[in-house]
Amino acid sequence: MDASPSSLQPPVVPAPADLQALAEECAACQRCSLAAGRSRVVVSRGNPRARLMVIGEGPGAQEDASGQPFVGRAGQLLDQMLASVAIDSNRDAYICNVVKCRPPDNRKPTPAEMAACRPWLDPQIRLVDPAVILLAGATALEGVLGIRGGITRLRGQWMAGEGELLQGRWLMPILHPSYLLRNPSREQGSPKWHTWQDLKAVRERLAAVGASAS
Ligand code: URA
Ligand code: SF4
Repeated sequence: MDASPSSLQPPVVPAPADLQALAEECAACQRCSLAAGRSRVVVSRGNPRARLMVIGEGPGAQEDASGQPFVGRAGQLLDQMLASVAIDSNRDAYICNVVKCRPPDNRKPTPAEMAACRPWLDPQIRLVDPAVILLAGATALEGVLGIRGGITRLRGQWMAGEGELLQGRWLMPILHPSYLLRNPSREQGSPKWHTWQDLKAVRERLAAVGASAS
């Protein structure tokens, strides 16, 4: 018994053979209405052999202009915070988003847009094969795991992946760096402080799964 509307089911499409094919096919995608407003499709940056994957919400203005995820102010903060726990965002991580095209006015992508884009995200996970996945913000938590709300309660908690695609992987929701830009305090108990604790736990988990330490 599945009550969800058919528009929210991911379309059934052949999976790309490798990440290069994925990037080429995704660049021409017209599967949802976000295609109309984009300049560039934003597929990924970083290392496709990394054990860590970071999934955000969707491209903003700078990402749309450059074709690279997390390169604006939020991305710079993400890079700095990862660097503070000795994770180099381009060497030690593969970074992408739930939707690959910029939503107008940076609005949150709709459930239908997230579902339409899922056949790009799923093969990214399969081909990169990360041991650890960070879900940056409430939209990534919803888009990947279907969990709506609760990011402030769930952030920093390890979730064991379930189902064919995610089992054997560790997932952790974290606060979105855009939220941290609006809440810059680093005091103990602040959102930034919590995120730093979360990222230290990520560093430990990566060491435990044998990711090369830097
Ligand atoms: N915010 C996101 O969620 N993703 C990006 O790529 C940039 C900003
Ligand atoms: Fe295709 Fe995803 Fe862009 Fe929609 S957001 S057009 S599904 S790549």
